[in-house]
Amino acid sequence: MSPKLRIAILISGRGSNMAALIEAAREPAYPVEIVAVISNRPDAAGLERARAAGLHAEVVDHKAYAGREAFDAALEARLLAHGVELVVLAGFLRLMTAPFVERWAGRMINIHPALLPAFPGLHTHERALAAGVRVHGCTVHYVTPGMDEGPIIGQAAVPVLPGDSPDVLGARVLQAEHRLYPAMLAKVARGQAPIVDGRVMVAVGDMLGLT
Ligand code: GRF
Repeated sequence: MSPKLRIAILISGRGSNMAALIEAAREPAYPVEIVAVISNRPDAAGLERARAAGLHAEVVDHKAYAGREAFDAALEARLLAHGVELVVLAGFLRLMTAPFVERWAGRMINIHPALLPAFPGLHTHERALAAGVRVHGCTVHYVTPGMDEGPIIGQAAVPVLPGDSPDVLGARVLQAEHRLYPAMLAKVARGQAPIVDGRVMVAVGDMLGLT
């Protein structure tokens, strides 16, 4: 079996996507080892969740640093200390500087609660309802300096149903996120999601059974 890819999961809050990734990584054949969970907020509920699962979890508190450069440098030092090969953002609510993002180009992924390029940014479920779309969902993508703009690795769609509130719709999307993220992370770790000319190359065979 080839060695597992060493990942860090970065969180700021409850960490339900992180929990889905932890669950997936329990499977012996899953190609990823979670070497650290890092939060920029000391009060993130996901920290305890990670520790309860036996993982190393730590805080790099953004408030302790003078600016984004200093915070990113501290974060990077921790990533390097853990020998991290891929950074996995899971509800990490901190914008990173362009030089940091560029250093991790092709080695940092994110999950966004909308079908990009629709609804980048915040409050995606409210905006989807306001726009009257019939289909909504989530996207896993590589991170580039432009917010929510990086090459798309995979997406999952859910219906928008009559009477949906943002919370109800958001819960439906979140369930899809918990399936999509572990599947797409495995693809990245297996080298099945290379970036070619700014897009992710997906083998046709890999698409089967994905949607
Ligand atoms: C998710 O909806 C994710 O798509 C977005 O932030 C939320 C994080 O939720 N980036 P959780 O912390 O994983 O529960």
